[in-house]
Amino acid sequence: MHTLERIAALHETLAEARRAGRRIGLVPTMGNLHEGHLALVAEARRHADLVVATIFVNPMQFGAGEDLDAYPRTLAEDQAKLAAAGCDLLFAPQTAEIYPRGLEAQTRVRVPEVSEGLCGGSRPGHFDGVATVVTMLFNLVQPHLACFGEKDYQQLAVIRRLVADLHLPIEIIGVPIVRATDGLALSSRNGYLSEVERAQAPGLYRTLCELRDALEAGGAPGDCLADAEATLAKRGFTPDYLELRAQDLGPLTDATRHAVILAAAQLGPARLIDNLTVNLP
Ligand code: PAJ
Repeated sequence: MHTLERIAALHETLAEARRAGRRIGLVPTMGNLHEGHLALVAEARRHADLVVATIFVNPMQFGAGEDLDAYPRTLAEDQAKLAAAGCDLLFAPQTAEIYPRGLEAQTRVRVPEVSEGLCGGSRPGHFDGVATVVTMLFNLVQPHLACFGEKDYQQLAVIRRLVADLHLPIEIIGVPIVRATDGLALSSRNGYLSEVERAQAPGLYRTLCELRDALEAGGAPGDCLADAEATLAKRGFTPDYLELRAQDLGPLTDATRHAVILAAAQLGPARLIDNLTVNLP
């Protein structure tokens, strides 16, 4: 597997692949790779002849006071994992390669509606940063398809909307959440947890499962959500949001059957997110 840092080299390599008629699959990441990321590579492998991963810790999607500087950077380990997972090419640019004029001067992509509320409510500007860098990666790689994790449910919805709105000829494939055996969704941010916090962390998924079961048994959403939020606090979390939405992230109506529970909660130094689909009775 080759690693490229420069756009010019990426263009050269991909032009050749495109001339050879190869189907290109893209897996964008911020590195510090785990089995969740590698599941995206495996899925891309199933649909593409050439799998391109990217590692770029995108400053535009981090707010002031967030963990941009602390975000784990583990390029050598990531390269070994990607090669073993069957990735063909890694694009790992420096910040100046992506934002040569700096962040302030950068054209931005904003996706209304789906970017609002949930993580977009707590992290203003976050999804503008995600939408901008993902649009840029789509333009740089021009993939036939791209894989994103359902773990970042709202992010996946933002990207599906941006591809639809901008008429980008890219198939977006959502990949189910990969979890540790105790249920915790794998995340690079889990590395911020102490041993004690790591033992508490599966309480988030457990709470979502209990909430799903209560809703599927016919519980009133308002009551069930309030109970679950109290349970989260009892289990050591500071809940940021806990919401029930239609699967397209629209508001719940009486007709909604396929819904999703979405949660974000602080546990010590880590902001954890998770989600779970629910079939309402
Ligand atoms: P990052 O957090 O590195 O995640 C990269 C991709 O891996 C995302 O599509 C995310 O949903 C997926 N992923 C992470 N943990 C997962 C898990 N446990 N199971 C399944 N998929 C998982 O998301 C980003 O980076 C960035 O916002 C990015 C899209 C790269 C734009 O900068």
